[in-house]
Amino acid sequence: MRNLTFLCSLTTLLVIVKMGFPPPCDSEIYCTGSILHQVQEAKLFDDDKYFVDMKLKAAPDVVLSAFHNLSNASPNMTVPPAKLREFLSEYFEEAGTEFEPWTPEDWHEKPKFLEKVADQELRNWAEKIHNLWKSLGRKIRVGVKDHPELYSLIYTPHPVIVPGGRFREFYYWDSYWVINGLLLSEMTDTAYGMIQNFLYLVNRYGFVPNGGRIYYERRSQPPFLTLMVESYYRATKDKEFLRAALPTLEREHQFWMQNRSKAVTVNGAEHVLNRYHVEVGLPRPESYTDDLELVEGLTDDRKERMWMDLKAGAESGWDFSSRWYIDSDGHNNGTLTETRTSQILPVDLNALLCLNEKTLASFHRMLGNGDSAAQYDRAVARRVEAMESVLWDAERGAWFDYNLVTHSNHFEFYSSNLAPIWAQCYSRPEMPEKAVQYLKGSGALQFPNGVPTSMRQSGQQWDYPNAWPPLQHMLIEGLSKLPSKEAKDLAFDLAQRWIKTNWLAYSKYEAMFEKYDVNGDGKPGGGGEYEVQLGFGWTNGVALQLLDQYGATLTSGSRHVSSGLLLPLVISAHRMLQ
Ligand SMILES: *[C@@H]1O[C@H](CO)[C@@H](O)[C@H](O)[C@H]1NC(C)=O
Ligand SMILES: *[C@@H]1O[C@H](CO)[C@@H](O)[C@H](O)[C@H]1NC(C)=O
Ligand SMILES: *[C@@H]1O[C@H](CO)[C@@H](O)[C@H](O)[C@H]1NC(C)=O
Ligand SMILES: *[C@@H]1O[C@H](CO)[C@@H](O)[C@H](O)[C@H]1NC(C)=O
Repeated sequence: MRNLTFLCSLTTLLVIVKMGFPPPCDSEIYCTGSILHQVQEAKLFDDDKYFVDMKLKAAPDVVLSAFHNLSNASPNMTVPPAKLREFLSEYFEEAGTEFEPWTPEDWHEKPKFLEKVADQELRNWAEKIHNLWKSLGRKIRVGVKDHPELYSLIYTPHPVIVPGGRFREFYYWDSYWVINGLLLSEMTDTAYGMIQNFLYLVNRYGFVPNGGRIYYERRSQPPFLTLMVESYYRATKDKEFLRAALPTLEREHQFWMQNRSKAVTVNGAEHVLNRYHVEVGLPRPESYTDDLELVEGLTDDRKERMWMDLKAGAESGWDFSSRWYIDSDGHNNGTLTETRTSQILPVDLNALLCLNEKTLASFHRMLGNGDSAAQYDRAVARRVEAMESVLWDAERGAWFDYNLVTHSNHFEFYSSNLAPIWAQCYSRPEMPEKAVQYLKGSGALQFPNGVPTSMRQSGQQWDYPNAWPPLQHMLIEGLSKLPSKEAKDLAFDLAQRWIKTNWLAYSKYEAMFEKYDVNGDGKPGGGGEYEVQLGFGWTNGVALQLLDQYGATLTSGSRHVSSGLLLPLVISAHRMLQ
């Protein structure tokens, strides 16, 4: 059995070496090679991310040479676990030593928005959330700048607010909701620094990597930088900042159009839309053993394709979800091995890029660049038309991801099907109102603690019964901007449910979580590759935004009855509390 395991893993290593792909990064320690392979396969840590976050105590060539000597002295070049441990303690530091805790200098008590929160319990809680920024602040030690070769951390010049838990470093799309929360907390300098970091990364890589580690260097995440700049501009009216940032924002947009787009012909007309796509057919270093186990028994070509699609799933931010499955009957009830993220044109990515294009047009107009503004106006018009032709389904009254393999849409419910409402990207005003009816008929509004990511219980974390802060926020914000009273009331109901969920969990655990269970009355979410994490950047940002927007009417939930529709749910939630 041991021999068999050994042979399998050696074969896999050979496959990995021979594929000739661009590696996930240039490090032979953190991204490819036999140290990574042997340490991860020995499962010395609960989470594969731990090893690739450890700092080197000696130069990479010394560490590589030491390992070479060690494996030459080991039977079949396989270093036994006890020796691996010794090797790690000699050449690596514990994970997380590259940061110093940092209290944001612009943090102060009692930002003004707190006064808007009428419910006293919620106001006290909002203050505690505001306090959490202090515990999530991180500053990168100068050593990382001077000796980047010793770290997997990507150096960025300004301190950041991190999500928390295993997410020790910055993450890209998380930071949008963090920054919106910081701006409410009147922490403009911290928000500014985080945005400057992202601009720096675009200038270095051509795009923003998924997170602050070299093993994320070849994948991005949903592109929210333009909207971060917009939030900052709205809070400060700093036009010079806008002028300086704009070329970099355009560079990021070009990356998405050149490297993440796909032409598709529907009803005889060609359209260009975007997708997540990472051309690195190797296991993710931070989830190495999961990725190896998943491909067992597949041919080399399938392995490579699988790993590319898993990385594309990570790039989508939805890692992982039945949404990325392409199975034989189109119902997305396959398994993780059916993940084909790169073969799907996602509704939310295209809605986001549409909103980015509208925002870039408005920036140019504000700065007096009429011609450039008109260019982005035309990009918006093209995208709205493409979204209507490829993603909109008139009969069902919503937008659906497009599958490039079967040339058809996925009609399962995902809360991303409503993203064009949030982005206000559609040609006719009746479309979002039809989509509200679709949402009401979807079954996704029946849960007391938020709108689930999907209605499919796949065991993956971006599916039922998990509800995620960014998805709640986009849905609520979108509905609240529609003209109808029905949509506005629904937005408030959903805000009330979400705040109640967050607040109940906080009262039980004194913590904010990355995701929640829609049936849990304050139960954190689960599933996926790792344990639920607390902290938590985007959760805090979304809670603060909802408390700001609806502070006058929100209540801590247990005594609140928001509408006739919700009465039974509220009563049952109340009963469970007692
Ligand atoms: C090492 O390889 C040899 C043959 O190549 C095999 O007989 C032996 O069992 C292997 N040892 C281990 C510990 O896997
Ligand atoms: C590895 O072995 C070579 C040859 O014996 C030696 O010169 C080198 O110093 C060793 N490397 C380390 C890091 O111990
Ligand atoms: C984008 O694609 C172009 C052309 O295929 C390639 O040269 C470039 O390196 C890619 N850019 C990035 C940042 O991956
Ligand atoms: C997938 O789900 C659909 C609809 O719920 C069902 O009809 C079908 O039998 C399922 N397929 C499998 C393989 O479970």
